[in-house]
Amino acid sequence: MAKPSRSTYVCQNCGATSPRWAGKCVSCGEWNTLIEETDAIAAPGTGLARKGSGRVIALEGLKGKTREAPRFSTGLAELDRVTGGGIVPGSALLIGGEPGIGKSTLLLQLAAELARAGKRALYFSGEEAAAQVRLRAERLGLSDAPVELACETSLANILATLEDGKPADLVVIDSVQTLWAETIESAPGTVSQVRAAAQTLIRHAKSAGSAILLVGHVTKDGQIAGPKVIEHMVDTVLYFEGDRGHTYRILRAVKNRFGATDEIGVFEMASGGLREIANPSELFLGDRESSSPGAAVFAGIEGTRPLLVEIQALVAPSGLGTPRRAVVGWDSNRLSMLLAVLETRAGISFAGHDVYLNIAGGLKIAEPAADLAAAAALLSSLSGVAVPRHRIYFGEVSLSGAVNATPLMTPRLKEAQKLGFREAMCPARGELEARGLKLKLHRLTHLRELADEAPPCD
Ligand code: TYD
Ligand code: MG
Repeated sequence: MAKPSRSTYVCQNCGATSPRWAGKCVSCGEWNTLIEETDAIAAPGTGLARKGSGRVIALEGLKGKTREAPRFSTGLAELDRVTGGGIVPGSALLIGGEPGIGKSTLLLQLAAELARAGKRALYFSGEEAAAQVRLRAERLGLSDAPVELACETSLANILATLEDGKPADLVVIDSVQTLWAETIESAPGTVSQVRAAAQTLIRHAKSAGSAILLVGHVTKDGQIAGPKVIEHMVDTVLYFEGDRGHTYRILRAVKNRFGATDEIGVFEMASGGLREIANPSELFLGDRESSSPGAAVFAGIEGTRPLLVEIQALVAPSGLGTPRRAVVGWDSNRLSMLLAVLETRAGISFAGHDVYLNIAGGLKIAEPAADLAAAAALLSSLSGVAVPRHRIYFGEVSLSGAVNATPLMTPRLKEAQKLGFREAMCPARGELEARGLKLKLHRLTHLRELADEAPPCD
């Protein structure tokens, strides 16, 4: 029988294991991510259970008397929204994001809110010294909150602390990549260390009924194990995103065993920490210039919430043989498709023009319903005629040029009305609850109708 090898090479990007080193991971295709790790946890399932050593488990049916998981409010409405109504005791949450995006700030604010509400909140920082965390708390005006703070990276010490005294309601580990278990030989931040630490802490959290929040940095170079390798272990995965050039931050649920995953929470990074934005449309439309050609407002939906954003286009004569097409915040293939549809189905050519498209505020839009607004912005920039200032657009454009029905039309229109818009261009098909709507509706069946409304001047 072959002797089991003690040493495996683990991809630090995707967690795939390989018996020998290679420059490129065969599983995810990343380069230079394989690192030697000598530990059984590195490859789950390799330690086979001995026959006859287990015990018989009682099996149950699906019907039972288990009630809906109880939750506690976080005190931050946006975080409650993303988690599906609050944090479930005994659950494990992972919050990922690039370094410097504001994870520590958000979690310190959360711990303080809960501690002020009489819950026991523990904050373990492995990245910052206690003095740094205290200084930050002071700046955020949270010094008075009875958060219990420790700067620790040893898993054994953290566990011993958690088991001592009254079980905590919330445990924050900032970050999981700094944790270090003595029994594992690999360096902190490697897949085996991160996995082992997460597993141990999650097991403790479940037995003690404490909610555990693990911070994980997302790195681009793949040298440090990303939070991806523990996503399957936790109940909820939240990603904190944002653009360094802008102050807003979006908290997005990508996995949630206790709620929907399409919700977002919007925050603004201000001098006093993260501020919740209850009405994100106001933020994204805030500095809108009046009546300049090439801008159209798109009424989108993020999760269950309508979100109005401005789409900006610039169409300029090009001296290049192959004109430039550049997009920020939208899919560039989608732009190419839209330009082709405009040319073929509506007879408006952008050949000989450079085309730039930008989503205001640094937001990224993935909804196909943005097509109509993008088309309106492009046509407006080409013709030099601004679109009506009080109009919003939404609708998906198909390859035939037809404007397809879009889900959730009513909330989009209601949001626009609330923000003072007076007209909407939207698909002709689709259910609409017209009661209480004062907007003037232009319902389109084909992209041509949009083009006819704003004839391009040559
Ligand atoms: P931080 O929470 O340390 O990020 P992470 O834990 O994700 O690495 O956030 C750091 C950034 O936030 C830093 O660039 C400064 C900024 N910041 C503010 O603008 N205002 C504040 O009140 C705080 C605490 C941080
Ligand atoms: Mg941090």
